Amino acid sequence: MSVKSVIPPSPTAEAYAADEDQGEVFTLDEPLALFINWLALASKREINDSNAMALATVDPDGLPNARMVLLKDIDERGLSFFTNLESAKGQELAAHPKAALVFHWKSIRRQVRFRGPVERVSDAEADAYFATRAKGAQIGAWASPQSQPMEGRFALERRIAAETARHGLGATPRPPHWSGFRLVPVEIEFWVNRPFRLHDRLVYRRQGPGDAWRTERLYP
Ligand SMILES: Cc1cc2nc3c(=O)[nH]c(=O)nc-3n(C[C@H](O)[C@H](O)[C@H](O)COP(=O)(O)O)c2cc1C
Repeated sequence: MSVKSVIPPSPTAEAYAADEDQGEVFTLDEPLALFINWLALASKREINDSNAMALATVDPDGLPNARMVLLKDIDERGLSFFTNLESAKGQELAAHPKAALVFHWKSIRRQVRFRGPVERVSDAEADAYFATRAKGAQIGAWASPQSQPMEGRFALERRIAAETARHGLGATPRPPHWSGFRLVPVEIEFWVNRPFRLHDRLVYRRQGPGDAWRTERLYP
């Protein structure tokens, strides 16, 4: 099977021209409010995980690493997600606390990119979110040394059985190696598909938290 047979061909001129013109979509001055507005629309259209975002970090050699995580909270401080602190991403963020995030919603053909420093959420925030997770996911956080080599699926099942015996009854405490990070955006770019790949881009930049946002349009 050739790769070409599974990669969609470039659209024809007619298909490009028929791309939906979404009109004015940069409708709010405050970028986090605009993002929440777009996310609300995406959550109605995406088949699942409209809060999924690619998280890019760098390893000790400066080699980038990217993987999906779920956005779990957003407020004026930034965007938070939760993970194992000893995973590759956890270690990379501890060593280089800066990251990029990107959302791509195929259903509405929009993209939003964030860049900025990353901080740990407070223990209270992590406890509060952990308490909302399903019991099985709480046990899983104890049982899975995320990103470590695993001998086989059975090894995981053995660990889950052991942690279920320890934490099966009553409230499950948050593991010390499990918490969240918050990306504090200093750059946010909104992108929307337009006919003929002549997309619209609007970037917001600020020096740091609390500073005013400046906007700029970018060529597609
Ligand atoms: C849609 C989606 C959402 C995910 N959400 C999370 C998440 O919120 N936290 C997490 O630790 N891993 C999440 N994962 C798994 C990560 O992509 C990744 O496999 C795992 O965290 C290990 O990454 P690392 O070795 O770079 O640390 C998600 C995967 C997908 C596909």
